[in-house]
Amino acid sequence: MAKRTPQVKPDPHGLSAREAFDEIERLRAEIRHHDYLYHVKARPKLSDEEYDRLFWRLRAIEEVYPDLITTDSPTQRVGGQPQPRFMTFVHTAPMLSLDSTQGEAVVRRFDERVRKGMHGQVAYLLQPKLDGASVELVYERGRLVRAVTRGNGTRGEGVTENMKTIPTVPLRLRAVDRSAPELLAVRGEVLMYVSDFETFNARMVDSGAQPYASPRNSAAGAIRQLDSRVTALRKLHFVAFDVLSAHGVTFHKDRERVEALLRWGFRVPEGGTVATSVEEVLAYHRSWAARRDTLDYEIDGVVVKLDDLDGRADLGTTSHHPRWALAYKFEPRSEVTRVERIAVSVGRTGVLTPVGLLLPVQVGGVTIARASLHNREEVRRKDVREGDLVRIKRAGDVIPQVLERVEEQGQRRGRRFEMPAECPACGTAVEERGPLTLCPNRLGCPAQLKGRIVHFGSRNALDITGLGDKTAALLVEHGLVIDLADLFTLQPDRLIELPGFAEQSATDLVDEIQDCLRPELHRFLYALGIPEVGVSVARDLATHFRDLDRIRTASVSKLLEVPGVGPRMSEAIRDFFAHEQNARAIAAILEHGVQPSPLAASGGTGLAGKKFVFTGRLTRLTRPQAKQLAERAGGRVVVSVSRETDYVVVGEDPGSKYNRAVDLGVSALDESQFMALLEDAQVELE
Ligand code: IVH
Repeated sequence: MAKRTPQVKPDPHGLSAREAFDEIERLRAEIRHHDYLYHVKARPKLSDEEYDRLFWRLRAIEEVYPDLITTDSPTQRVGGQPQPRFMTFVHTAPMLSLDSTQGEAVVRRFDERVRKGMHGQVAYLLQPKLDGASVELVYERGRLVRAVTRGNGTRGEGVTENMKTIPTVPLRLRAVDRSAPELLAVRGEVLMYVSDFETFNARMVDSGAQPYASPRNSAAGAIRQLDSRVTALRKLHFVAFDVLSAHGVTFHKDRERVEALLRWGFRVPEGGTVATSVEEVLAYHRSWAARRDTLDYEIDGVVVKLDDLDGRADLGTTSHHPRWALAYKFEPRSEVTRVERIAVSVGRTGVLTPVGLLLPVQVGGVTIARASLHNREEVRRKDVREGDLVRIKRAGDVIPQVLERVEEQGQRRGRRFEMPAECPACGTAVEERGPLTLCPNRLGCPAQLKGRIVHFGSRNALDITGLGDKTAALLVEHGLVIDLADLFTLQPDRLIELPGFAEQSATDLVDEIQDCLRPELHRFLYALGIPEVGVSVARDLATHFRDLDRIRTASVSKLLEVPGVGPRMSEAIRDFFAHEQNARAIAAILEHGVQPSPLAASGGTGLAGKKFVFTGRLTRLTRPQAKQLAERAGGRVVVSVSRETDYVVVGEDPGSKYNRAVDLGVSALDESQFMALLEDAQVELE
């Protein structure tokens, strides 16, 4: 019988089928390891480029040998075809919820009950209570086979494809050979970081969509998308805290399970600990309450769990809750207060936003005096009027929101709120687009101009620290800036005349703006405030086109070639550049000598994140060149010297910054030392 040879395309890497198999296995193991270091350990060892090289090689070989693609390959995280609906699955073990309290007395009673049942020594495992969406992950022989939402606790929806897009969800358990159970079911929380949520929600509002009320809702919404490619676009994290079933592995303590979760490659809640007294439990709650606002994810309390697993079995569960655990929640971050007035603010894109000006109220230790009402439809839906009582909510750093109106018996209410017919900043008749109200006076409206200036100088744009809200308002009000390009003509002597400016601050601002003449392309793109273009899309565009002119003239189909850019975005970008006023504004900026430069391949040099300050005249380099080189090395250029500054580069006739650097003990370099440093960092000097 003739031997069948496998039908394969010629491999660009010149590998035989056997070699391809080995190479695929090797690449997967390596990528998995680096995913783990990056996402779980937050200690990456490879630069993005090195990682991408591994990934693309794996993808290229898999393309030639599609039969070798497995569902747990790192290339399978990107999201697949949309599903018509979700299948439901029964959980391997019920996903119970926890009894909860906000009161110390209840915690003490819980502790007494547990001690009585346990006759003696008691240890609790304490963890922060993560406020996300609860999901069960099921692994068979170490491979992820299913992910199911909590649902009603017994049965939930299968969201496997979506969960696979989350980088902290292991597709395959680590340390599989030593300790992977036949079947493992893990429970954890899907989180969206507050900072990512804010960016995401701002985009929802900008595009007229209904914003999500909290990172939790947004995470829950993301994992229930029928199209997993949509889930993949939201930045989600998975943190594991419970083992629902583990066949063939016996644990005696919950802390052993947490250790096993870590070994298997999961992230677990940070700051977990074991306590033996109720006082320690109370102190743990206090310390997390104090840290709560500094976290980039939301927690709503701490969880107290009996560590001893036999003890848990003895105490048992009620119909809803285990008797061996308690959620000790924080005071809510919502509060009731009165809306004194509804003002309307105008953003840089011309969108009018109603804002409730509130009788100031403390929410979780912070005074809140304003809360967003988002748009016309929102106000209508919630029917909030001046003088009403409302419940407001603050979540992490998220802009406070009006959750709902609180009914008051016998209260005469004010008039229904209507959006103004004219822009409150410039008087132009507004236009309605879907739920949004817009001021169409793009160039002449002072509020929009102010917004554009602030955005232009914001941290992810040109990073001009001196261009805050107040300064931008002054520049507009006093007619110093009528167009973004005017920023580059500012002179210290005119600035000094503005209230609040002194000689030093005026020179610093002008210097800082002049230091931006060679911005990195992606920062410049982001600074322009193109609709739909956030930080990461700006980066993608810059990496793909590497040249502003090519982006300015790109057709929709060319733009669609950029990974991550969809049809809506491409049209928005093309329309932006095609718009005559925008084209003129950009040309004016470039005429002032602004030269955006493509992103240099950052090789992860030792200068990444280092802060540089320049003072005095350089002789071999111009200031913009020096700034650009420092940035190419991964550094940041800032204006003033502080303890955080890493290097002060001192030219001829240095200013007071040099003295300050000496006082603070910051390293000072002359121009040639600076260039030597760059050479060491392998930055090419032109
Ligand atoms: S232990 C028997 N630990 O809080 C339940 N739950 O009602 C065992 N949660 O939706 C759960 N962080 O998903 C536990 N560190 C943590 C948690 C946690 C958040 C969630 C859980 C559930 C709710 C409890």
